[in-house]
Amino acid sequence: MELVVERDYPTLSGVAADVVADVFREKSDARLVVPTGETPLGLYRNLADRKDRGEIDTSRLRVFQLDEYLGLALDDARSLYRWMREVFLEPLAIRDHQVTWLPGDAANLSEACQAYDRAVEQAGGYDLAILGLGPNGHLGFNEPPSGADAPTRVITLTPETVSSNARYWGGEDRVPRQALTAGMKQLLAARQILLLVSGPRKREILARTLQGPVTPEVPASFLQRAARVTVITDRDAMPAPVSLREV
Ligand code: GLP
Repeated sequence: MELVVERDYPTLSGVAADVVADVFREKSDARLVVPTGETPLGLYRNLADRKDRGEIDTSRLRVFQLDEYLGLALDDARSLYRWMREVFLEPLAIRDHQVTWLPGDAANLSEACQAYDRAVEQAGGYDLAILGLGPNGHLGFNEPPSGADAPTRVITLTPETVSSNARYWGGEDRVPRQALTAGMKQLLAARQILLLVSGPRKREILARTLQGPVTPEVPASFLQRAARVTVITDRDAMPAPVSLREV
C-alpha cells in the first residue's frame, strides 16, 4: 500500500488526476468504478479540465456505478446515478452505453446484483477502483460488518451513514435505509485501487484503515491486503505528523 500525503485538498485532487490520467493513457478501454461523495469532486473537475484541453480520451472507457439508494429510479434527482452523471459522466463526455449501473428500483434486486457482478466479471474485472472512505470505514456502501468476499448486494445502512448523508436529503428521516453496493470481492480484486481521503473528520477512521486490525468491522481495512493500493490524503486527514510520500 502506498500512502501519499499532500499538503491540501487541491493538491490531492491534482495528484489523483495524474494517477487516473495515466490509467486512461495506458488502457484507453479501462474499466472503472467511481464514487460519489464530496471527496472526489476536485479530481473530477481536474479530469474534466484535462478532457476539455484534449489531454485525455474517454470514448472507450467503461464505467461501473459503485452504489445506489434503494427504491430510486435512475433519473431521480436524489439518486447517486444522477450525481455521478452530473459530476463525472457528463463533464467527461462518457455516454450511457459505456456505463453499467446499479438499478435501485429493480423488480428483482438480487437478480440485478448478480447481473452486475457478472458484467464486471465478463469485463475482466475493474482496472481501477476509485474509492472514498466512509466515516465508519465503509467502501461504497459496504457497511460494517462487510467481509472481503462480500458480493454486490442489498445492504441496510448503519445509523452513522444515515446521519452522515442526511445533509443531502434535508433530514435523517428522509434518507433511504437501504442501498445497493458493489461488492467487496470485486473492489478488492481491482488491478489498481485509489482511495481518496480528505479532512479532519476522516482522521480516526483513516488511522484504523491504514494501521488497525484487518476486520469486517472496518471494511476499508481489507485494503491493507489488496494488490495495488494508493491512498492519497491531505495533511488534515492524517492522524499524526508524517513525512510526505511515506510508504
Ligand atoms: C458515501 C458513499 C461512498 C463515499 C463515502 C464518502 O456514503 N456511499 O461511496 O465514498 O460515503 O463520502 P465523502 O467523500 O463525501 O466523505
